[in-house]
Amino acid sequence: MKVILDTDPGIDDALAFILLKAMPEVSLQAITTTHGNTTVEKCTTNALKLVELLGMTDIPVAMGATEPLVKTLSVAEETHGDTGLGHAVLPHPTTKIVEVNAANLIIDIVNANPGEITILCIGPVTNLALALLKDPTLRKKIKNVVSMAGTIHYPGNATPSSEYNVFCDPESFDILLRSGIDLTIVPLDVTYQCLFTKAHIERLAGAREDIRNFIDRSTAFYMEFHAEYQGIEGCAINDPLAAAILVKPDLVKMRDYYVDIELRGEFTAAKISADHFNASGKTANAKVAMEVDVDAFMDFFIERVKTI
Ligand code: RIB
Ligand code: CA
Repeated sequence: MKVILDTDPGIDDALAFILLKAMPEVSLQAITTTHGNTTVEKCTTNALKLVELLGMTDIPVAMGATEPLVKTLSVAEETHGDTGLGHAVLPHPTTKIVEVNAANLIIDIVNANPGEITILCIGPVTNLALALLKDPTLRKKIKNVVSMAGTIHYPGNATPSSEYNVFCDPESFDILLRSGIDLTIVPLDVTYQCLFTKAHIERLAGAREDIRNFIDRSTAFYMEFHAEYQGIEGCAINDPLAAAILVKPDLVKMRDYYVDIELRGEFTAAKISADHFNASGKTANAKVAMEVDVDAFMDFFIERVKTI
């Protein structure tokens, strides 16, 4: 399975990097970075740090959008820390990004592999939107998109009704929703059931020490955020769930929905809505993960990480 990872590392993004390293079923073609959890510059530095930690420096890393299509830039350093990786410290990278920017690399790879590329979006989807705007033929050439994005019934984590990736760039997510691409959405409804705790750190005994230490130090900050801001014990590992379903789709139960987005609401801007009863009569444009086998996912994550 050929995959492009579009990401804003970010602590849970970093856990998705680690899981992808332990998923030989996935052939990572490129890593493209975006603004989101922090600035695209810091996200890119973090992506380079992570490919060095994981021995993935053969995978091209391209820097992407510095800001959303329309909105001003948002960052979430209270959630992911000043560096974007919480309390974890990794060596400053020597690996360099490729010359081409993220949107152009997506265009190049998809055009070279029509019908074969899955794009795993675990941040705001600005890069993908820019690629679709520049080369509309990608709508028919991208095999599918899996996007950790949005929330259907669960409270928003960016506003009362919106999830952070969509909140950062709702206009780009609207372009994705209207693209006609085979789209799978992994919303907070399932990801916030996947709470990683200190007990899971204990279960990682026997994993590669530097990786276990990174997970411990990065999620320590993330757990502090969840406790202080959301009254939640543990931390929601949103992005690894989106990665996991690439190879274990049975971890979740999908619903085919017509999904739309509010772009102008005073209180509900960036809220996505799933037409559960098909009141609109419109054809479904997304598969939405609405149930998850939490224990099976956590077991998968821990068992795979131990294989690195
Ligand atoms: O709302 C959670 C999502 O926003 C995750 O992808 C997290 O990394 C942030 O990007
Ligand atoms: Ca992310």
